[in-house]
Amino acid sequence: MLSLRGVRKRYGEREALALERFEAAAGEHWLVLGPSGCGKTTLLHLLAGLLSPSEGEIEVAGERLDRMNGARLDRWRGRTVGLVPQKLHLVPSLTVEQNLLLAPYLAGLAPEPARARALLADLGLAAKARARPAELSHGEQQRAAVARAVMNRPKLLLADEPTSNLDDAACEAALALLQSQANACGATLVVASHDRRAAARFDRQLRLGE
Ligand SMILES: Nc1ncnc2c1ncn2[C@@H]1O[C@H](COP(=O)(O)OP(=O)(O)O)[C@@H](O)[C@H]1O
Ligand SMILES: [Mg+2]
Repeated sequence: MLSLRGVRKRYGEREALALERFEAAAGEHWLVLGPSGCGKTTLLHLLAGLLSPSEGEIEVAGERLDRMNGARLDRWRGRTVGLVPQKLHLVPSLTVEQNLLLAPYLAGLAPEPARARALLADLGLAAKARARPAELSHGEQQRAAVARAVMNRPKLLLADEPTSNLDDAACEAALALLQSQANACGATLVVASHDRRAAARFDRQLRLGE
């Protein structure tokens, strides 16, 4: 499902990531663990095709990302990858439901208002569908961002530091939600975190910066 070989990413002179090999099969749940600055966000952005590698091969869902670019890559990403960014990037001027509907719209897929409503209900956000993101608690915003990420039934679900600023109970709940939503789509899940509390929930771990 996902394979990286000899991948290096440099920003100018500075090498942010060097990864000889990383492979994940369909439906697996992976935790990328390591201290701040070790390249976790860089790795997620490479897997999403938001960054291109300085060297090496990246294959996700049968496509070589290091050979794709422009509109084709954008279209592929919209249909294949769900990303929950560290800063959630919900659109403040849209309602929560409209934020979800943006995902299929931007990917050129048919609108799915019924799926958006069902996801919001599943995630305990039915009452917030018409609220703006700023009216939600941090935990609710996080759930809305997960719902948006899975709207298009991605094959790859990525989450960057999904437990930052969460207490222990909310941390458990956030990780359980990502895992259950990945399972519901049959997606491979890759969570990046420096939070050791996350380690107990993942039997597959990639440690960076060691
Ligand atoms: N856009 C960028 N330009 C220059 N350096 C960057 C950029 N993004 C990240 N870096 C550097 O690359 C390294 C890895 O960053 P990052 O992938 O964000 O790590 P992590 O998510 O593990 O904290 C860090 O040293 C960081 O300062
Ligand atoms: Mg990071």
